[in-house]
Amino acid sequence: MNKISSRLQFIFSQIPPCNYFADIGCDHGYISYLMLDSKKCSKLTYTDVSAPSLQKAKDLLCSFNNAKPVCCDGLTKVDTDIDCALIAGMGGENIISILQNGFLPPTLVLQPMKNTDKLRTFLNQNGYYLKKDFIFKAENKFYTLIIAERGSEVLTSEQIEYGKDNLTNPSKDFLEYLSEQIKSKRKILKGLSGEKYLQYEQIIQKELALYERLRTL
Ligand SMILES: C[S@@+](CC[C@H](N)C(=O)[O-])C[C@H]1O[C@@H](n2cnc3c(N)ncnc32)[C@H](O)[C@@H]1O
Repeated sequence: MNKISSRLQFIFSQIPPCNYFADIGCDHGYISYLMLDSKKCSKLTYTDVSAPSLQKAKDLLCSFNNAKPVCCDGLTKVDTDIDCALIAGMGGENIISILQNGFLPPTLVLQPMKNTDKLRTFLNQNGYYLKKDFIFKAENKFYTLIIAERGSEVLTSEQIEYGKDNLTNPSKDFLEYLSEQIKSKRKILKGLSGEKYLQYEQIIQKELALYERLRTL
C-alpha cells in the first residue's frame, strides 16, 4: 500500500469507534483499510460511484471478510443499520446531494473541499447538530472536518460561515487559515475598484476584527 496522506491519517484519527461503518466515495479504500486493520469498527461497507475506483479498494481490502463493496451513488444502496458514514474529499454540494438521496446514518464524518457553509445549513435543517466542526492543516493545505450527530441546535450566521469550533475554540490552524485568507484578499483588493473594492474591503475588515477577537480568547 502507498503511504497514507496526513489528511487521511488525521481524518481516520477523528472517526469514532463504531459497529458498522461506511466509507462513501472510498476511491483507494485507505480509510476502510485503517478502520478494519485497527478494528475500530466490526464491519464496513465501502462504496464508490466509479467501478474502477471501487476496484482499487477491492484489491486493497480483499483479505478482510467483514468488508462489503457496493458500486453506487452515495448512500443509495447501503444497509440501513450503518452507525457512522464518512464522506471525504468531495465538494459540499456533492455531499449534500448524497445526503438528500440516500439513507442517513446517525453519525456523519464529513470532510468537504468547499461550500462548507451550505453543508452546515443542510445539516442544521435536516436533524443533525455539529459535534465537531473545525479546520485542520495537512500537507500545507487547510481542510474542514465536521462530525455531525442526530440532534438540533441554533447556529449563528458566523458559525455557518466559519465553522462552529473555529469560533468557540479556535485552533492554531484556524488562526493561520484566517490570516492567509486576509492576506490573499488584500492581494485581490489591489486589482479592484468601485463597488467591488468596497465590498472586499468590508470583508477584510470583518475578518481582521474576527482574527483579533479570536487571537485573544
Ligand atoms: C477525491 S476522491 C476522495 C476519495 C477519498 N474519500 C478521500 O478522501 O481521499 C472522490 C471519490 O468519490 C467518488 N464519488 C464522487 N461522487 C460520488 C457519489 N455520488 N457516490 C459515490 N462516490 C462518489 C469518486 O468516484 C472518487 O473516487
